[in-house]
Amino acid sequence: MKVSRQVVGGTLTTGNLTSLLSYITNIMISLMLFSMVIVMISMSFSGCRRISEVLNETPDLRNPDKPVTEVADGSIDFDHVSFAYKSGSGESVLSDINLHIKSGEMIGITGPTGCGKSTLVSLISRLYDAAEGTVSVGGIDVRKYDMTHLRDQVSVVLQKNTLFTGTILDNLRWGDENASREQCVKACQAACADEFINRLPDGIDTKITQGGTNVSGGQKQRLCIARALLKEPKVLILDDSTSAVDTATEHKIRDAFRQEIPGTTKLIISQRLSSIEDADRVASLLAEEPETDNGYVTLVNVQEAADGTLTETKEKTDKWAWRHPHNADGSVTYQNAHG
Ligand SMILES: Nc1ncnc2c1ncn2[C@@H]1O[C@H](COP(=O)(O)OP(=O)(O)O)[C@@H](O)[C@H]1O
Ligand SMILES: [Mg+2]
Repeated sequence: MKVSRQVVGGTLTTGNLTSLLSYITNIMISLMLFSMVIVMISMSFSGCRRISEVLNETPDLRNPDKPVTEVADGSIDFDHVSFAYKSGSGESVLSDINLHIKSGEMIGITGPTGCGKSTLVSLISRLYDAAEGTVSVGGIDVRKYDMTHLRDQVSVVLQKNTLFTGTILDNLRWGDENASREQCVKACQAACADEFINRLPDGIDTKITQGGTNVSGGQKQRLCIARALLKEPKVLILDDSTSAVDTATEHKIRDAFRQEIPGTTKLIISQRLSSIEDADRVASLLAEEPETDNGYVTLVNVQEAADGTLTETKEKTDKWAWRHPHNADGSVTYQNAHG
């Protein structure tokens, strides 16, 4: 009001008024920027604090004083293994598991979601330590190994995997940085990834975008299997990692495993019966069902129907059992590889 009167009265020129307004705007912008800087600084301080908390955290899992660095073979033994994510009162995910897997066997692991399949295999590469009992690889307790060497010999392919920006070849070399082009091509063949790679205009030199968004889910999974094969592990774990691959290709991958890596122990986790139907042995891991109070639980068992197709049936049996998929009478068999 006062300013407009001054303009009308001629004591303030229009030019002066315009300059005044632009100066005020400039001051306002600077103040806003300054307050943003203060916010950013306090955000970076709390970020720094959190990062240093992570860096200073001492891991629960430590290498032993004289670690073993050689993994003799791919045999895996679970002896009375129990595990809970929260120690103490936490509900146990695995209890008293006894499994003995020979080197080179192909083992199917099935069971409902949340029953502990991924937990079971994470104990093999010592992502967690068993609360009770021992897990051994190559006849030696996993706690006696140097963790880097152990994890080099145990390859795990997850259902949801990550590919990085770069060519297919670059991505494969995450498995083994010194792998030759021929070795990479061979790994792709074993993982049945070659059929789609060959159709790409640049073949194995095709660029993968960030996160692997330019390949399909099943193609991504096959590349990740190839990447794991390049490590030439003694134990290969596929944790639901062929879920997006069609059944026929999946079958071919398993055939290739038998041909190419007969000495590698293969653990295949899947909910699909077709993924594990030709495994040497199948383990059903069960979730306890509250309605059965007699100490038994219901489990999904794999049985061969009269027409040769595999069907899911439910029956009462021990909490944990090894089953051969072609065992029609439902009895528990302890069968040798290819036996
Ligand atoms: N990191 C974790 N912390 C706490 N609980 C977990 C963790 N991972 C899995 N669980 C719990 O352990 C159980 C088994 O999980 P998981 O082994 O992933 O099952 P599956 O692979 O058979 O689907 C689930 O009940 C799940 O909620
Ligand atoms: Mg899982």
